[in-house]
Amino acid sequence: VVLGVDLGTSSVKISAVDRQGNIVAQQSYDYPLSQPKPGYSEQNPEDWVNGTTVAIVRLILDDGIKPEDIAGISYSGQMHGLVLLDDNNQVLRPAILWNDTRTTPQTKEIAEKMGQEFIDITRNKALEGFTLPKILWVKENEPEIFSQASSFVTPKDYVRYRMTGKLAMEISDAAGTVAMDVANRTWSKEVQEAFGLKPEFFPEIIEGPEFAGTISPKYAAFSGLTTETKVFGGAADNAAGAIGSAILQPNMVMSSIGTSGVVLKYEDNADADYKGKVHFFNHAIPGKFYSMGVTLAAGYALSWFKKTFAADEDFTAMVESAGKSTVGANGLLFTPYLVGERTPYADGDIRASWTGIDGTHKKSDFVRSVLEGIIFSFKDIFDIYEEAGTDFDTVVAIGGGAKSPLWLQIQADIFNKKVVSLKNEQGPGMGAAILAATGLGWFDSVQDAAAAWNSFDKEYLPDADRAARYAEIHAIYKQVYGATAEISH
Ligand code: XUL
Repeated sequence: VVLGVDLGTSSVKISAVDRQGNIVAQQSYDYPLSQPKPGYSEQNPEDWVNGTTVAIVRLILDDGIKPEDIAGISYSGQMHGLVLLDDNNQVLRPAILWNDTRTTPQTKEIAEKMGQEFIDITRNKALEGFTLPKILWVKENEPEIFSQASSFVTPKDYVRYRMTGKLAMEISDAAGTVAMDVANRTWSKEVQEAFGLKPEFFPEIIEGPEFAGTISPKYAAFSGLTTETKVFGGAADNAAGAIGSAILQPNMVMSSIGTSGVVLKYEDNADADYKGKVHFFNHAIPGKFYSMGVTLAAGYALSWFKKTFAADEDFTAMVESAGKSTVGANGLLFTPYLVGERTPYADGDIRASWTGIDGTHKKSDFVRSVLEGIIFSFKDIFDIYEEAGTDFDTVVAIGGGAKSPLWLQIQADIFNKKVVSLKNEQGPGMGAAILAATGLGWFDSVQDAAAAWNSFDKEYLPDADRAARYAEIHAIYKQVYGATAEISH
């Protein structure tokens, strides 16, 4: 078997996958998130290592996975987190996570100092969540800690370091630091010079399926693993999710509804120019890239609605009640900006709205407006692709949006594209397992492994009349941001 370690924000989940791609055992372990001040979000890297180890021990002791049968291990990781290390690779302070927003001044500083050059090189705008602004925050606010810092890594790269004793950063996570020259696949000298960061501060970059070392004797003693098990680079969670769902063709886009929502497009090369409007990162597939946009409150908007207005209802029944409403929810329009927005508006202050509430509206109209509003916000990301002249014909839906036939059809009609779901959706842990399987030589490429271990399920095709109606409503939806931005702020 191979182990896919999915290091998330609330827990680590490890899947043991056999040579046919079947998950034979799974264990997870929760760890706490600390919010010492508003906007701060931190974790103790030791909790990730301990949680990962407990899950591995349980796979061995409770599920009967034999350590000598574990041929390889790889990772999917929460992105962008900063783990700052001293010259003995000891952790200097709690990790600052992707959802920490203390770094607004640093993002402004980066934009002022490097302007368009920054976007040209790193292929991204410097947002609060990304790693470089966090490095600068520590440099400016905790100089005594920063003076001891000799290197840094992202979360899953730290866990891999503790398991192998070898420090490296896997390329899809390295891209998420926004300190890379993405097209040239190296750390950016321009960024290092502009912000006074030494080249030695940046660890070696490795590829997703690249061999990163074997389990160290120390970690073998700690976990029960053997020192024969090979360890491979891994992937940032969004890249791993796309690999795990076989969304690896330029004609395919992923529509993922978790707490937040992600629209992700596989990119064969770095030619597309989205002008920083969507993120553009190196993929965990050697030589490849992906672009993505984020709706901050996607599944969160629906669970907020349920908790607030339908607490005693069954979730599925509540979602399906939207079928009693009509296209456009009888004139009710919802924008899902409950916690601000990232794409297409990098605006942490905007807030959600309903417009057009009528005395005849029923709860089913409200439910439908939430389902539609989330997908309208995804459609805004599709429009960025369209403006850049990027074409694709298939949308692969995963997460909450793939669980309801009604919501899948709403996606097909709003996107005006074919939408497919997966037969057996397994998420980013499967992507991690695929990288280990490829690294071991079980498959010739990540694409081959993903195709062998996945298959697509039902197709949902757009209806021309509904698509035309949704296009009109989306044009109105787009005006709501501007109309509410001023009063929201
Ligand atoms: C992506 C992002 C999140 C994290 C969650 O840019 O910030 O999706 O990767 O782990």
